[in-house]
Amino acid sequence: MKKNFTFIANWKMYLNFNEEIDLATSEYDNYIKLAKNTNSEIIICPSFLSLSNITQIFKTTEIETGAQNCSEHLKGSFTSQVSAESLNLIGSKFCIIGHSESRKYLHENENQIIGKLDMLIDNKISPILCIGENQEEHKKNETLKKLELQLKKLEESISNNANIREYIPIYIAYEPLWSIGTGNIPTQQHLENVFTWLFEKTQNINNNVEFKILYGGSVNAENTNFLKKIKHLDGFLIGKSSLDFQEFEKIVRLGSLS
Ligand code: PGA
Repeated sequence: MKKNFTFIANWKMYLNFNEEIDLATSEYDNYIKLAKNTNSEIIICPSFLSLSNITQIFKTTEIETGAQNCSEHLKGSFTSQVSAESLNLIGSKFCIIGHSESRKYLHENENQIIGKLDMLIDNKISPILCIGENQEEHKKNETLKKLELQLKKLEESISNNANIREYIPIYIAYEPLWSIGTGNIPTQQHLENVFTWLFEKTQNINNNVEFKILYGGSVNAENTNFLKKIKHLDGFLIGKSSLDFQEFEKIVRLGSLS
């Protein structure tokens, strides 16, 4: 059955290994019930270290897992990196790429990010590509210009990638940098403009690919009702508010109500 809405929990590096395993095991039944009762797609993205364990924990359930990054290389002398092939082997079906925190702290550029996307597609993992403008670009009204730039390589890559014909949905998460972790969210007008533009853009990229467009940046139980009304929105990428199961549950319940 087609899922209602997608909720991606990005645990970032907020929890240590024990806390991540505790959260997954103590709320195991509740996560499963939540996904079933709301017919939602729930994807948990823990740190690399616990990803394999958490994928095993939820193996026979509807809860999916995703990595928070991967290498743009196939294999080789790339100390500290994790390949898309390994993610596939442990059974993780999603991977966040191009998150603004990775772009900033790991100095990732557009070529690397698209390299990661190609690796993921080759390994049948759905990329969750994060894009978004910074505060200055936002003030100058340059959001769409920035998104256009960030999606340019995606368009080229998808038209050249033969494996894309296989069914791998691509997720695009619009995450304005000035909204992540700040409690500030965009106005309705801004979101309507961005999501209408993103919808049209993805419709024109490649007919064989299913795109899902998500919003991320300070999503919480208070603003879910407002955010979920945005036309063409397929779900949320949730950071801080995904760490507290009760808060996450509220967001999923409110977000999946029509
Ligand atoms: P936030 O993070 O919900 O804590 O703002 C979202 C993200 O960075 O993916």
